[in-house]
Amino acid sequence: MSSPMEISIPKPESTEPEAETIKIENGVVLEPNVASPMIPEQSTPTPPIASESAASPAIADDKFLVSVEVCLKPSSTARLDDVRTCVERMLETRSLSYSNGPVPLPDNDQYLLENVQSICVCDTDEWVKNGEVLLFWQVKPLVHVYQLSEEGPCEELGGDGQHSSFNEWALPAKEFDGMWESLIFESGLKERLLRYAASALLFSEKGVNPFLVSWNRIILLHGPPGTGKTSLCKALAQKLSIRFSSRYPQSQLIEVNAHSLFSKWFSESGKLVAKLFQSIQEMVEDENNLVFVLIDEVESLAAARNAALSGSEPSDSIRVVNALLTQLDKLKSSPNVIIMTTSNITAAIDIAFVDRADIKAYVGPPTLQARYEILRSCVQELLRSGILKNFQDKPLDMLTFPSLKEKLLSSEMQEAGASLTLSRQLLEVAEACDGLSGRSLRKLPFLTHAAMAHTFNCDPIKFLCTMIDTAKRERSERPD
Ligand SMILES: Nc1ncnc2c1ncn2[C@@H]1O[C@H](COP(=O)(O)OP(=O)(O)OP(=O)(O)O)[C@@H](O)[C@H]1O
Ligand SMILES: [Mg+2]
Repeated sequence: MSSPMEISIPKPESTEPEAETIKIENGVVLEPNVASPMIPEQSTPTPPIASESAASPAIADDKFLVSVEVCLKPSSTARLDDVRTCVERMLETRSLSYSNGPVPLPDNDQYLLENVQSICVCDTDEWVKNGEVLLFWQVKPLVHVYQLSEEGPCEELGGDGQHSSFNEWALPAKEFDGMWESLIFESGLKERLLRYAASALLFSEKGVNPFLVSWNRIILLHGPPGTGKTSLCKALAQKLSIRFSSRYPQSQLIEVNAHSLFSKWFSESGKLVAKLFQSIQEMVEDENNLVFVLIDEVESLAAARNAALSGSEPSDSIRVVNALLTQLDKLKSSPNVIIMTTSNITAAIDIAFVDRADIKAYVGPPTLQARYEILRSCVQELLRSGILKNFQDKPLDMLTFPSLKEKLLSSEMQEAGASLTLSRQLLEVAEACDGLSGRSLRKLPFLTHAAMAHTFNCDPIKFLCTMIDTAKRERSERPD
């Protein structure tokens, strides 16, 4: 839990001119619960339209739209609408202000305590930077209530009855819980994808004529291995299934096993692709179903046809590309499907496929800030679990990258506490990890631990020193 800190935010001119001090705890700012003339009218807000309730925070009635995600307990049988109303009322009466993070459940609300597992404020950083907060009267909360599916993936057998041609998850799935938050990209990539999906679904929903304005609902993420492409696709699907649940009560993720679509029977592969898409088409026919199709290593299905024609590829791969393109064009008329694809080798993908993708985002190795934040989340987890020794009786809060930078520039440096000392050392580790992928970074704490002699309740300072050596070794062992 973060220790409370103080920030100052000037009130708008219509109220007191001087700055007001607010206490932040646990990611949420708690204001003194005084009756304020700024408290919004108690009138029921008009239900948000799909795009509002999904991703793109926009200003509605001069307010910032902020998503509040409410996860129900697995045992809860409460109606989503009832919980939504109850949370909306709770947010109004407690006059909370908003920054990303969990909202503590009110002790005196038996209904919420019985049914709700967690409440989380999301995406305020679209509007404010560096953990600043939005005050309650500036915000229109968009409450999304969901319950995680615990079913796990269900396998669908392929044409020859041996390989599965796809895995299917009911979303939101327990397996992907927290994945979105764990992914760190400095470039605003996650927000861009969320906004894209919101626009794509809104255009379909509003019946925009596709002959006049064209969009395919195809995303292509490309870049080096281990940079989070597949995870980002899964996490995006999960996020959208939560944000769009009032329009689409059911969501599914179909993870295509591209290799299973190559038949040992020459010329059959094109038919296998058609068969796979036939199954997808059936799911999409239910207009209450939102379907996400994930095709990893799409270059294997959409191999560049010019390479095939030059004789270096078997002609079966041409049939597969042709089948894939035809099927994608057919799916275009269905408003409730999003195709997400990833690749390590964009140059190997057929140009006609690349051309169909609305978003072609490069996902590169993490920047210094992203590396620091990924490693910070790892070290924080080791402190929480007791693998690393805590200096105090509660887990240390390491500084975020912006606060560390600020502290390093300011005079507060003199009063270096345990948190600042550790954070500075972590920055050195992050610098030593230049060029490592997110996958390597998430493995680094484990490898560091395995390299140490005294591994029970390690001293964090020693641990971070060893981590620098481990990072150097990892970098030197990378293939060119
Ligand atoms: N930017 C990131 N932030 C946080 N974690 C990351 C990041 N990039 C990668 N990871 C972690 O690395 C692991 C591997 O990620 P993932 O499999 O999604 O990468 P990928 O780009 O699909 O790799 P490949 O190209 O090899 O398929 C995941 O556990 C993920 O959490
Ligand atoms: Mg991948």
